[in-house]
Amino acid sequence: MVNVAITGAARGIALELARQHVAQGDRVYALARNPAGADKLNALAAASGGKLTVHAMDVGDDASVKAGAAATGGEAIDILYNVAGMTGTTAPEFEEVDWKTFDETFNVHVKGPLRVLNAFLPRLGAGSKVINFSSQLAASTWPYGGFHAYAASKAALGRLMRSAAADLKDKGVIIGLVHPGYVQTDMGGPDADITPEESATGVRTLAQAWTLEKSGDFYKWNGEEHAW
Ligand SMILES: NC(=O)c1ccc[n+]([C@@H]2O[C@H](COP(=O)([O-])OP(=O)(O)OC[C@H]3O[C@@H](n4cnc5c(N)ncnc54)[C@H](OP(=O)(O)O)[C@@H]3O)[C@@H](O)[C@H]2O)c1
Repeated sequence: MVNVAITGAARGIALELARQHVAQGDRVYALARNPAGADKLNALAAASGGKLTVHAMDVGDDASVKAGAAATGGEAIDILYNVAGMTGTTAPEFEEVDWKTFDETFNVHVKGPLRVLNAFLPRLGAGSKVINFSSQLAASTWPYGGFHAYAASKAALGRLMRSAAADLKDKGVIIGLVHPGYVQTDMGGPDADITPEESATGVRTLAQAWTLEKSGDFYKWNGEEHAW
């Protein structure tokens, strides 16, 4: 049994991760920005026998992140998944840029995971893992354009968390970056490659096996190393 905290848990891959961790007997703190509207998550909590509790956390807001982390109590956290994410800007990417969405994307993808890491840091120790959801679009090898704010913010997240991995190595905190696959969620759409079940199974397996030597590295959900 391990203690797990998951952001963006109302739906998508995070909801499935929550389901799988409860099924294997873990204690799950599920963080959602609008718990009242998180019907599937609330149903999971009700059926979990107290193993899963739902707490409000908007990762884009400092006060909300602090309050959400405090609401989960003081137990040590073994795995913290930074999952919350958004699609960001779409066309037009030039001339008429939607700067409000652009800024919000950086706020949620870059500052958000750092806020969450900071809020839980006192409860992270040797062997604790912080698994950050990046994307294949963050890699220099991604050959396509578009999704400027999404791709750039996930790349920034990767660089930020690689620095955090170096900073926290002495403390024994393990930082991971994952591309979860192209997944059939609201974000990925119905024609994406893999199901949330396959993605969450892969990421959960990776998270459990992640070592300090691999802290700051970037992997795909299926265990392959990802190019930067
Ligand atoms: N799906 C893919 O193919 C794919 C590929 C590569 C990477 N990823 C990454 O994997 C992660 C999960 O993606 P997904 O496909 O599961 O997405 P999704 O189905 O669209 O779900 C996104 C989740 O993030 C939450 N969220 C958004 N902004 C938030 C905020 N400010 N505070 C707290 N929660 C917030 C949403 O909450 P609400 O319900 O309140 O909106 C929702 O629970 C994301 O980081 C995404 O970038 C996904």
